Amino acid sequence: MDMAEKLKEYARLTQEGLETYLPEQAGALKTIFQAARYSALAGGKRLRPALLMEFYALHGENAEKALPFACALEMVHTYSLIHDDLPCMDNDDLRRGKPTNHKVFGEATALLAGDSLLTRAFETMLCHCPTEIPAENALKAAGILAARAGMEGMIGGQVMDLDFETRRPEKEELSQMVHLKTGCLLMAACEMGCALAGAGEEEMKKARLYGEKLGLAFQIQDDILDVTGSTEKLGKPVGSDAENHKNTFVSYYGLEECRRLVEENTRQAVEAVALLQGSDFLTELARSLQKRDH
Ligand code: IPE
Ligand code: IPE
Ligand code: MG
Ligand code: MG
Ligand code: MG
Repeated sequence: MDMAEKLKEYARLTQEGLETYLPEQAGALKTIFQAARYSALAGGKRLRPALLMEFYALHGENAEKALPFACALEMVHTYSLIHDDLPCMDNDDLRRGKPTNHKVFGEATALLAGDSLLTRAFETMLCHCPTEIPAENALKAAGILAARAGMEGMIGGQVMDLDFETRRPEKEELSQMVHLKTGCLLMAACEMGCALAGAGEEEMKKARLYGEKLGLAFQIQDDILDVTGSTEKLGKPVGSDAENHKNTFVSYYGLEECRRLVEENTRQAVEAVALLQGSDFLTELARSLQKRDH
């Protein structure tokens, strides 16, 4: 299977898993399930679950067994997007090619749909862990997700992002913000896959570095696409960053330097896994993301 086919297969598995862990409901809970499903099943690149399953498989296990954890991570990512789009944050109307959650369900339900996906993620990991995965490994993976999504991870980065709407950060602060808001969940994907397979510290280090560099490249490219991309291809509005007076890599360094930084960080991501056997998928994925238009 080539990289694109494998990515598609991971996305298919993720979609199936999310359907299972977020079933339709009738009765009083119908709306909250509908709202959570609306954003979670809307698609997206499914990059984080793919990375998690790939790192799990790289360390000798059958990728599918890690599916509850891959879906949990995608739930946390989707929750972060629902909240990111709220009027009190980036105030965006379009996500994954559809009206944002709050546009359809209202702000209160969108807030609760985000909360629901966050809690459901931990329920999924802790209540649907396959017997083949040692409890110790599962606990480690759940701990990684909790830490990387939290105040010293994604949430911390989002707080900095909002803070920088009203003040110009130092260079190091801007990098730290991107590392936290986007790098951390991509790092979590790589680290969780290793943890679930019981990989050693050396392997974990490589995975972490790959996720970190990929995360930087990924967010800088996201900032570039917010200026140069098309709403149709991205499935989300362009020009959102300028409208919100965001300090991004593009506003700070300009497009040309940003393209160089995407290239440099992609190269470093590729280098991080160069000595890992069977890392072609990771290498090709990193290179293809550098050229992405959505
Ligand atoms: C969007 O992430 C938010 C960022 C961290 C830039 P993705 O670009 O992975 O969004 P989906 O999952 O494909 O919709
Ligand atoms: C990343 O930043 C958002 C999260 C960590 C959820 P952005 O605000 O740039 O993401 P998009 O462009 O709205 O997807
Ligand atoms: Mg944002
Ligand atoms: Mg946003
Ligand atoms: Mg963006």
